[in-house]
Amino acid sequence: LSALQLETAEVFEPLLKDARYKGAWGGRGSAKSHFFAGLALEDAIALGEDIVCIREIQRTLDQSVKKLLEQKIQDYNVGYYFDVQDRRIITRPAIGGQGVITFEGMQNHTADSIKSLEGYGRAWVEEAQTLSQRSLDLLRPTIRKAASQLWFSWNPRYATDPVDVLLRGEEPPPDSTVVRANFQDNPWFPDVLQQEMEYDRRRDPEKFAHVWLGEYERHSEARVFKNWVVEEFTRPNGTIHRLGADWGFSIDPSVMVRCSIDGKRLYVDYEAWQLGCEIVHLPDLFMSIPEAEKWPSVADSARPETISHMNRHGFPKMTAAIKGPKSLDEGVAFLQSFDIVVHPRCRHVIDELTLYKYKTDPVTNKVLPVLEDKNNHCIDALRYACEGARRAGKPMPKILKYDNSGIH
Ligand SMILES: Nc1ncnc2c1ncn2[C@@H]1O[C@H](COP(=O)(O)OP(=O)(O)OP(=O)(O)O)[C@@H](O)[C@H]1O
Ligand SMILES: [Mg+2]
Repeated sequence: LSALQLETAEVFEPLLKDARYKGAWGGRGSAKSHFFAGLALEDAIALGEDIVCIREIQRTLDQSVKKLLEQKIQDYNVGYYFDVQDRRIITRPAIGGQGVITFEGMQNHTADSIKSLEGYGRAWVEEAQTLSQRSLDLLRPTIRKAASQLWFSWNPRYATDPVDVLLRGEEPPPDSTVVRANFQDNPWFPDVLQQEMEYDRRRDPEKFAHVWLGEYERHSEARVFKNWVVEEFTRPNGTIHRLGADWGFSIDPSVMVRCSIDGKRLYVDYEAWQLGCEIVHLPDLFMSIPEAEKWPSVADSARPETISHMNRHGFPKMTAAIKGPKSLDEGVAFLQSFDIVVHPRCRHVIDELTLYKYKTDPVTNKVLPVLEDKNNHCIDALRYACEGARRAGKPMPKILKYDNSGIH
């Protein structure tokens, strides 16, 4: 009988039964690592199995599950059975004799050196989504002891990854048990992760499905903007501010953004954003951006009467964007050519930079050269703001400032 009283989340119970292949895949924080760590200790103590913990790449032991095993040894209070050494853990099984737990990176192995693993009864591959086909092909016939087992825990990326093809493909190997585990299945799901999870669930459903539900990564290639970071900053005196506005009402927001160009960088430092804003209240909304009314601004040309109202109510320098057949694509390409730095106060700009996508072919899933017409209100405002700079032609001077020598 086992010396260990393992508390197992229900989702992993099928994996407690013997099987040559055991797999657990799913989103972050679903207790996959903790489950296999506990099972490893149990099999080491009760069965005296030698266990090799494997990753595709392991440059140092810090990248291994050694720390996790040490923590579980403490948690379960089974230090008596283990001698934790520098590079490995020696085991003293309850059934007598001596065993070992070792930690290996597959990329450090050749077809010859892998043979050193032939005597192991268990191989646990952590982060198995990164396992290469070569490594998988080397490993499977190496673990050959009678009743030996191969374990895989992973967060899926693509259906074409070797471990997914093997264990989730059309024909999984005989004697394999595979479970899907997500955070809902983890009775110990910690508060910090709960908050991280909820943040992604609100902001980015697609990312949420991939990161937290273990869905394959989809459409990340469809994101229009990958060239941006969120960072606190203040723009120096003398900065030329560029303002752009987009009109909406009930479904779409009315938006104004402020940005400035500095060489290859585009700084976005203020946004004004409101749903259902009456025209008479637009000047106040936009004046929440410092000195917005003093600078030239460029607005969506679809509402000349709104621009006229703004001109008469505090925004005399607001003009209409020039609509050309290619202004959308060229404007987006212009924004893509910068390293964009967004101030954290610009929440809606951040949302849209995250969510703005190209369309994808519903049949082939391939990304199309057509922009989706949603999550683009701040983006449109940014395009308008930069329209003058774009039409003036490149390259942008290193520091784009006005000459303030004549201003007193
Ligand atoms: N048996 C357990 N006892 C106590 N806490 C646990 C246990 N299993 C999981 N947890 C808690 O749940 C968290 C997530 O577990 P774990 O790291 O095993 O998940 P995972 O699925 O491997 O996540 P990731 O995909 O991020 O690697 C742990 O950090 C720990 O706080
Ligand atoms: Mg893990």
